[in-house]
Amino acid sequence: MNTQPLLEVQNLSLNRDGRAILQNVNLRVYPGQVHALLGINGSGKSSLAYALMGCAGYQPDSGRIWFDGQEITGLPIDERARLGLTLAWQEPARFEGLPVGSYLSLGMDRPHDAALSKTDRERVQAALAAVNMPAKTYLRRSVDATLSGGERKRIELAAVYAMRPRLAILDEPDSGIDTLSLDDIRALLRRMAQNGTAVLLITHRDEMAAAADMASIMCLGTILFTGETTAAQAFYRNGCQPHLAALGEQPWNGVIQPIKELAR
Ligand SMILES: Nc1ncnc2c1ncn2[C@@H]1O[C@H](COP(=O)(O)OP(=O)(O)O)[C@@H](O)[C@H]1O
Ligand SMILES: [Mg+2]
Repeated sequence: MNTQPLLEVQNLSLNRDGRAILQNVNLRVYPGQVHALLGINGSGKSSLAYALMGCAGYQPDSGRIWFDGQEITGLPIDERARLGLTLAWQEPARFEGLPVGSYLSLGMDRPHDAALSKTDRERVQAALAAVNMPAKTYLRRSVDATLSGGERKRIELAAVYAMRPRLAILDEPDSGIDTLSLDDIRALLRRMAQNGTAVLLITHRDEMAAAADMASIMCLGTILFTGETTAAQAFYRNGCQPHLAALGEQPWNGVIQPIKELAR
């Protein structure tokens, strides 16, 4: 491919408490593409997402990250966000009390004190429709504890959709979502790509990767394979999943401290 990658990760490594969490990760995500990052639980996918965003505690020990030709390895999280990088968390945060409509327009490129224009309103409504949430029911509802986990997760996805960042890192977008089918989520990802957002789709389900243009396999903190989605899915089905079935939750159980919260 001749196009310059939007995101380029070179030999990224991250150690915590004396053990390697990420080891020599190399990854390229191209503009307008959906790139799946497939890996079993505990393989390092979320850690890579946090390192890419520049989250506290995830500054790499070595390696470099480039975004749109600019090195961002040392940049703080807000500057990366300004450049167009966004992360939708595996466990989304709550912004207590804000109406859903206002929450969705937060990330949109518009003056914050101005009333929503007709186009902005349509964009917010399209975002809710994209996650199967009727605007009538949800637009004025508060983002608070009365929303279910699945609803919060869908609102978070809708917010990324409305924001149209240059790169959206979606960490297990299907986890905990009750009413969106796999087809719905795959359609949402394709629509994001059509709107000009490249997507790094983090998942442990190979059927999710079907929406991707390319896929990489993560194992033990490194990327073992990058290529055509169907080839990556086959690699995952024939390699990673049997490994998981044979050896339990993580292939390194017992070797390295097992982490309970990874079971979800
Ligand atoms: N801040 C941290 N300190 C120590 N260990 C961590 C930290 N973050 C992640 N890990 C460990 O790194 C490994 C990969 O975790 P994670 O990135 O959450 O995997 P995945 O998202 O693929 O399930 C796990 O063993 C996890 O416990
Ligand atoms: Mg994770």
